[in-house]
Amino acid sequence: MSGDDSRETTSSKVVGVRRLKEAMAKPASTRIFTVANQKGGVGKTTTTVNIAAALSMGGLRVLVIDLDPQGNASTALGVEHRESAGVYEVLMGSAQISDVIKKVAGFPALDCVSSNTSLANAEINLVSMVARELQLKAAIDEISANYDYIFIDCPPSLGLLTINAFAGSKELLIPIQTEYYALEGLSQLLETYSVVKKRLNPTLVLSTIVLTMFDGRTRLSNDVAANVRSHFPNELIDIPIPRAVRVSEAPSYNQTVMTYDPLSPGAIAYMQVAREIAERGKAKDEIVFDSNVVSINYKGGIA
Ligand SMILES: Nc1ncnc2c1ncn2[C@@H]1O[C@H](COP(=O)(O)OP(=O)(O)OP(=O)(O)O)[C@@H](O)[C@H]1O
Ligand SMILES: [Mg+2]
Repeated sequence: MSGDDSRETTSSKVVGVRRLKEAMAKPASTRIFTVANQKGGVGKTTTTVNIAAALSMGGLRVLVIDLDPQGNASTALGVEHRESAGVYEVLMGSAQISDVIKKVAGFPALDCVSSNTSLANAEINLVSMVARELQLKAAIDEISANYDYIFIDCPPSLGLLTINAFAGSKELLIPIQTEYYALEGLSQLLETYSVVKKRLNPTLVLSTIVLTMFDGRTRLSNDVAANVRSHFPNELIDIPIPRAVRVSEAPSYNQTVMTYDPLSPGAIAYMQVAREIAERGKAKDEIVFDSNVVSINYKGGIA
């Protein structure tokens, strides 16, 4: 663990609004990410909430959909979720998504659709529904225009909830923990991804891979990173998230690490990853024409 990760943090409540001086690039249209990996505890929720928080601090409008009955994303964002209607009611058709969107305190434009314990029944209750794989997509279509980024935090399984996320999003973000069994099970995830692409959502793209809980001192972490880099050179964001105490402490204060300890190594890494995601997705017409570097090529030459 790096030494500067042990500073005291006194604030337990987010006060005011966090905004970066340098705004992040806006995408041409709403980017909708499923954050999935059926392996448990690899950093799906941590990656979702911190990248979402960072993009919001960069001036973008962001929504997090907590699609995990554990409700960890809702907790980390400090959103009351146990007693209130959330994504379960939306999936079942008993609530409109716009009625269950909650504001996240401390950010300019960060919203959350929370989960509650009823969501644990969703897999069973969805089975008998018409268009059961497309319930979430229908809801997202109603509100996606209000956001630059939407992230769906999935449970550690490839059941109907995760399929709903795949069907309702445009991009897949896979967090990979840099540990021995990191790539185990990835083929199952990629298989599900290709089936969904074929049958439900042909435009879905695996665009982004983030390495989590990286320990640069170990050979193992570096080997896993090299392996992922060789398989996914374009998808990998080559800024590993370090294993860092502050990152794991933040949720118990109902915060992301972006507010809990913004200068800690984990927060800085997530900020850099968010900026890279925004750069990759920025509207192409933002490329500025620089008249100083125009060179005119005369053909034929002078006699
Ligand atoms: N960079 C990090 N450094 C230290 N701890 C971390 C880091 N990222 C995540 N953790 C911790 O690891 C645990 C698992 O992370 P997280 O909940 O994000 O994974 P998950 O994939 O969402 O899990 P689940 O499959 O249960 O939904 C949590 O206790 C979290 O605080
Ligand atoms: Mg999780």
